[in-house]
Amino acid sequence: MNLLVYKTLDELNKDLADYIIKIAEMSIEEDDKFDFVLTGGSSPKALYQYLATECQHRIDWGKVYFFFGDERNVASTDENYNGLMAKKTLLDPLNIKEDHIFYVNTSLAPEDAAADYKKALDKHFKNQEINFDLVLLGMGDDAHTASIFPGTDLVENNKATVAAVYVEKLNTHRISLTAPLINQADHVAFLVFGENKAEAIKHVIGDEEKDFSKYPSQLINPVDGKLTWFTDEATTSLLT
Ligand code: 6PG
Repeated sequence: MNLLVYKTLDELNKDLADYIIKIAEMSIEEDDKFDFVLTGGSSPKALYQYLATECQHRIDWGKVYFFFGDERNVASTDENYNGLMAKKTLLDPLNIKEDHIFYVNTSLAPEDAAADYKKALDKHFKNQEINFDLVLLGMGDDAHTASIFPGTDLVENNKATVAAVYVEKLNTHRISLTAPLINQADHVAFLVFGENKAEAIKHVIGDEEKDFSKYPSQLINPVDGKLTWFTDEATTSLLT
């Protein structure tokens, strides 16, 4: 596991963009495509805008397939839909073709949306093992990642799949990749910054004794892949 700590968000986003571009170049060189899972939440907004502007000419974006690590159970036109934020800040500005974007179909019931998404992934990966080239993740101040929230069934789900989960604290359903599916990726990168995440990351990275139900981000440990944390000084201030 590689922990990178930056003084400013600008430096962090620039380095993370370079990291993404580097993996994209390798993947396109190897497979003529780059399978890239986006995170939701607010943290990646500036990164997506940077990729869509400063990095628009650095790779052939037409060879990138975009996926989502999780989705909220809201309409695709809802401001809280992760796909909409990515569409506005990254996908539309880069003119990504619809057939290169895998949105979660939240017009279906959560369980059906999860099954529908898994089916689309299986098709894309030709019914072989689903190995994303890069999964970008955020982390909540409660140490959740994707929609793997503390104390939910998703923590125990040991299948490499897409699942629907009811999150009591949010009083809503979510659709999410499971930890085993994320861990099949070649690269996983966390994008976590800000004082409010310091307590969570202290446990997620610092605790010898793991408690997956309390700190679900501890589940993320790519089998053959590489895990990198892109953080800032505020978020790592409690790490010894
Ligand atoms: C979501 C995300 C979620 C997010 C964290 C951090 O749907 O909200 O996928 O896992 O990454 O909640 O969110 P912020 O970046 O807004 O702090």
